Formats: sequence, structure tokens, C-alpha cells
Amino acid sequence: MSEKIKHLEALRQEALKGGGEERIARQHQTGKWTARERVAFLLDEGSFQEIGAFVTHRCDDFGMGDKKILGDGVVTGYGTVDGRPVYVVSEDFTVFGGSLGLAYGEKICRIMDLAMKNGAPVISLKDSGGARIQEGVVSLAAYADIFLRNVLASGVVPQISVIMGPCAGGAVYSPAMTDFIFMVEDTSYMFITGPEVIRAVTHEDVTFDTLGGAGVHSSISGVAHFAAHDEAACLMQVKQLLAYLPSNNLEDPPSVPCDDDPNRMDEALAGLVPDDPNKPYDIKDVVRCVVDHGDFFEVHRDFAENLVVGFARLNGRSVGIVANQPASLAGVLDIHASVKGARFVRFCDAFNIPLVVFEDVPGFLPGVSQEHGGIITAGAKLLYAFCESTVPRLTVVTRKAYGGAYCVMNSKHIRADANFAWPTAQFAVMGPEGSVNILYRRELSQAEDAEGLRKKLTAEFREKFDNPYIAAKRGYIDEVILPQETRPRLIAGLEMLKTKRDTNPPKKHGNIPL
Ligand code: HXC
Repeated sequence: MSEKIKHLEALRQEALKGGGEERIARQHQTGKWTARERVAFLLDEGSFQEIGAFVTHRCDDFGMGDKKILGDGVVTGYGTVDGRPVYVVSEDFTVFGGSLGLAYGEKICRIMDLAMKNGAPVISLKDSGGARIQEGVVSLAAYADIFLRNVLASGVVPQISVIMGPCAGGAVYSPAMTDFIFMVEDTSYMFITGPEVIRAVTHEDVTFDTLGGAGVHSSISGVAHFAAHDEAACLMQVKQLLAYLPSNNLEDPPSVPCDDDPNRMDEALAGLVPDDPNKPYDIKDVVRCVVDHGDFFEVHRDFAENLVVGFARLNGRSVGIVANQPASLAGVLDIHASVKGARFVRFCDAFNIPLVVFEDVPGFLPGVSQEHGGIITAGAKLLYAFCESTVPRLTVVTRKAYGGAYCVMNSKHIRADANFAWPTAQFAVMGPEGSVNILYRRELSQAEDAEGLRKKLTAEFREKFDNPYIAAKRGYIDEVILPQETRPRLIAGLEMLKTKRDTNPPKKHGNIPL
């Protein structure tokens, strides 16, 4: 017996070594942690239960027969984060460059199947050279098995990808189909084809970082939702995110005890919207004044800054915030903002997280590049996402609710539940200047004092439409409220909607615009 126990202990020790000391040292030299160090940092101490530590590949080609490493280059298992269960996949770059073969893929699929059956998030820590070249098509098949599970798990359990090294070629499609992508600056990158291929095909000269680093994907492409300076900061962000999310689509998001007074009225709110309707202000100041303790966990912070999305709590309950940002492009909706918003709204809807919208939007962005880039279908994505969502939905119009964007931004017509407007709110098909130019073109061209007439007509127009009362009379908004009443009114609304039940017509699935 003691021999058998010693053998088991030896195997366990061997499994912990991964690709060996030399490769672990190289991993550390490049500023990266090992797969196991990452798991240990992410999970509650002592909670990790490994699955498949002794799995090895079954490939004999290219001399692989005598290179069998316990675990096969991926550490998989489950544990807890802040006491709540999660499933973890941690790719080990020290073993065959973290490359993915059949046995490795089977380990990941096992974890994903367990996560779906038991209803807990899957967190994938990615650091891999991609498909294991020696295993050929078998490794591509293993990827496809994972892709299928990414899609089946979508909307069932939260899926989080943390890119902590290379993630290239078709391998990027697994994270792309998960809910959130985190990246680490300087040490992680994602691309379909690398700099060498690009140089040969398009003659463009790029580095790994300028092609697909954390900065690029978190601000230009929008592929990544979060970028962090180092691995510790990155994994702390993952923990922060998890705290807002339910474990699965059948649960409500976690509620935490709240010692921020639900009836708190922040007088600062009254002075945030400038008198001049064309002057910018920071909508995040509004959000922070309203939510519990001013804590706003922003998603996609550096991408499409004209629309702000993220998580916060109201009286201890998680909410998803969607807010136009007048401080960036006047808060206009463009292609990127629409797509960013649509994806966030759909995530919240899938996971029972109420939506709170702060609206100050002059419309959709005009321009040839926007039209040619497909603003029509991109904008429709956001509209579609709000229309189909059945979670509690509240709106606060702080200033402009103009044009098609009025309809899109969680209007009552598309099933928002409780809509409020501040006295500074303005509802119109377009701004007063544009409206007057179109309605009175002839009069203006014939007038002796065109400027004077324009000023007079604009003032009249503003007087008529630039207020919330026509919308209030129609019931398009429920109440005109003082800015400082926003927090109590939203919390009361959420409380009223706690038992909300709404459904869409039975169908296989809808067909969201591309
Ligand atoms: C097998 C691999 C590997 C792979 C790396 N290694 N990638 N082994 N299959 N795909 C091995 C290396 O041989 C090396 O082994 C060790 O991992 C570390 O690799 P290095 O090249 O020494 O490391 P580094 O200089 O840091 O470069 C990392 C890298 C590079 C940029 C990721 O290894 C690389 O370009 N790899 C290939 C990437 C790639 O093109 N993959 C296919 C993508 S397409 P030793 O024994 O020397 O330590 C894809 C398709 C997915 O994945 C399809 C889904 C549909």
C-alpha cells in the first residue's frame, strides 16, 4: 500500500511540474505566471479541485510518443471565487507552448459540460500557441468541439476569457464567442493571422502588440472588454466582474447588503447638466451619484466611449447601466457604440440583470463612412437587443432624446417598464436648429433678416419641444423627476419590478441584424 501511495504522490508531484523548471523560469522571465499560479491567485485559497491531472495525449507522430506530460498542457477543474463556484481552464504555455490537442480539448469540454450541467461560470485563462501542429486535423476537431460548447453554453452560464499570452488563428474564436474578454498589456495578443503573414499579403509592417495587443483590442477593435497592466490586476478585475453576475441563467444576480441609503438624494445631480444644451458633461458623474457608494464597474471603458456600459448596484442589487456619453462625440450613437450596447444589453437580458438607461442622445452619427460601414444594421442591433429583452428596464432621460435614438434607447414603446425624465429633458425628431432649417427653408431664404428670423423660430421651436411635458402628457415617460430624486425613484422602480415576468413569442430564435 505504502508503495502505491508513494507512486501516487510522485505522480502528483510530476503533474505539478508542467513543462519543467527551465520553461517555468522562461515563463517568469517574460512577465507571466504559470497556469497553476494563475489558478491559485484567482480562486479562494485551497478551493481548487483539479480534474484530469494525469491525462496525457495519445499522439505518436513527430516523436511525440516519448513526450507525454501529465495534464497535457492544460490545468482544469473547479473551485470558488468569493465563495461562489466557478469552473476553470488554465492553459500551460510551458507544455508544448500550451498548444491544443485531442486530450487537452477533451479536458476543456469536460469542464464546460460540467459547468453547464451544474450552472456555474467558466473562466478560461488562455496562453497557447494554438492547434497542436503534431496532432494535425485532430487538434482542429478538438477546437471545433470547444466552439460548439461555447455556443451551447452562451446564455446558460457566464463565459469569461482571460488572454494571458498568445491566442492566434482560429483559436481566437473560442474567446470571441464568450461573454467577456480580458487582456494583459504587453504579454497577451490575439489575431487571426500574425505579422509575418500580413507582411507577405498586404505589405503592412506591424508587431504582435500593434496588431493585436491589449491596447488595440480594448480601444480600437473592441474585441477585448478589459485591459490590465499585469496578470494580478487582470485577475482582480475578473473577480470584480463575477461579483455582479448570477452563476447561471436560472438565478437572479447576487444581492449584497447595502448601507448606502436607498432614499439618498444627491444634490450634486441638479447641477450636472449644463444650461447650454450643446455643452458636454460626463454622464459617469451622473451614474456615480446615483448608484450604491458611487461604484461603477465599467465594461469596454476605452472602446466607443460615446456609449458607456457597465455594472453597478442599486440598493444592493446588480444592474446593467447603459448611458449615452455627452462628453464623447456629444453622445451620438455610431456603429461601434451600437454594437457595444447591443451585446451588453443581450448579456444582461440573458442573465436576469435589470437594465438602467441614462439617455442624452442627439441621434445617430451622420456620415458616409458610417452609412457605408452599416450604421443601419448596427443601430438596428441595439434596437433589436432592447426590444427583445424582458428583464426589468428603467430609463432616465437627462437631456436629449432625439430622433430614432429616442425609440432605441429603452423607450416605453419597446417595452421599457419605468421611464423618467429630468426637467432638462428634450424630446424631438431632431435639434431645434436642424428642424428650423428644414421646416422654414423658404421663409429663411426670402427673409430680409434671415439670422434674426432663424433665432426667433429656433427659440419658438425650443419653447415648444425642448421639454419633457409633451412626452409626459402622452405617458411616454411616467414621471418628470428632480435629478436628486433619481436614486430613490430607480430603486422603487426596481423593487416594483422584482417579480416582473415577460416573455417573447415562442420561436426557434430571432434573427438579429448583422
Ligand atoms: C505545437 C507548439 C505550437 C503549436 C508553440 N509550440 N506553438 N507546439 N504546436 N502550435 C511549442 C514550440 O515548438 C516550443 O517548443 C514551445 O511551444 C514554445 O514555443 P516558442 O516558439 O519557443 O515560444 P515563443 O518564442 O514565445 O513563441 C510563441 C508563439 C510561437 C508565437 C506562439 O510558438 C508560434 O508562433 N507558434 C505557432 C502559432 C501558430 O501559428 N499556431 C497555429 C495557429 S492556427 P519547445 O519544445 O521548443 O519548448 C490555430 C488554428 C486553430 O491554432 C484552429 C481552430 C479552428
